[in-house]
Amino acid sequence: MKSVSQNSKISERMPNNKILIRKAQYEDIENIAELDAYVFYENAWSTESFTRELDLHFSQLFVAEIDNKFAGFVLAWFIADEVQLLRIAVLPIFQRYKVGTLLVQHVINHAKKQNKIELEVADTNTSAIKFYTSLGFYSVGFRKNYYRFDNAILMEKIIHHEN
Ligand SMILES: CC(C)(COP(=O)(O)OP(=O)(O)OC[C@H]1O[C@@H](n2cnc3c(N)ncnc32)[C@H](O)[C@@H]1OP(=O)(O)O)[C@@H](O)C(=O)NCCC(=O)NCCS
Repeated sequence: MKSVSQNSKISERMPNNKILIRKAQYEDIENIAELDAYVFYENAWSTESFTRELDLHFSQLFVAEIDNKFAGFVLAWFIADEVQLLRIAVLPIFQRYKVGTLLVQHVINHAKKQNKIELEVADTNTSAIKFYTSLGFYSVGFRKNYYRFDNAILMEKIIHHEN
């Protein structure tokens, strides 16, 4: 993968390009772990941790592609009647083009038996909180010192199934 911090002209062409969301494969793990390390620093997951997710029956790892290039990923657990959104990240050059929105929508569309999607977000991560709020998530709780340096806000959204 090109360095995630590398400047690019790609974002200027973005509105005309098609975003594809698909299941992650073993070959995607390196890109996923590199982006995860870039955005989550000391809270990043290892490549082994992401690889293990591919074999968990309740876990779904999806990637976003633009013109066959890796653009981001989302990881969610589907357990009983709830979805837990564990990680989501979009490459900086592709941010603010609705890639994150499409990744979350894909997770929600995948949730045939679940009624609720929930997540924890650092209370300092204002851009992510705005992102989730834009998607209809609302705050339902607070966990002090949940992360090494930050508190966590719990957010959730009810999933409405169309019959
Ligand atoms: C959070 C993240 C996944 C959003 O992905 P994205 O593809 O850029 O988001 P979208 O383009 O779908 O944004 C949808 C809406 O969310 C809001 N939003 C997204 N990023 C925002 C930001 N940096 N500042 C303010 N609002 C933001 C806006 O309302 C936006 O709509 P608009 O662009 O029409 O104003 C991305 O910023 C990211 O990877 N961040 C680093 C990792 C991270 O913090 N993950 C969440 C941890 S819990």
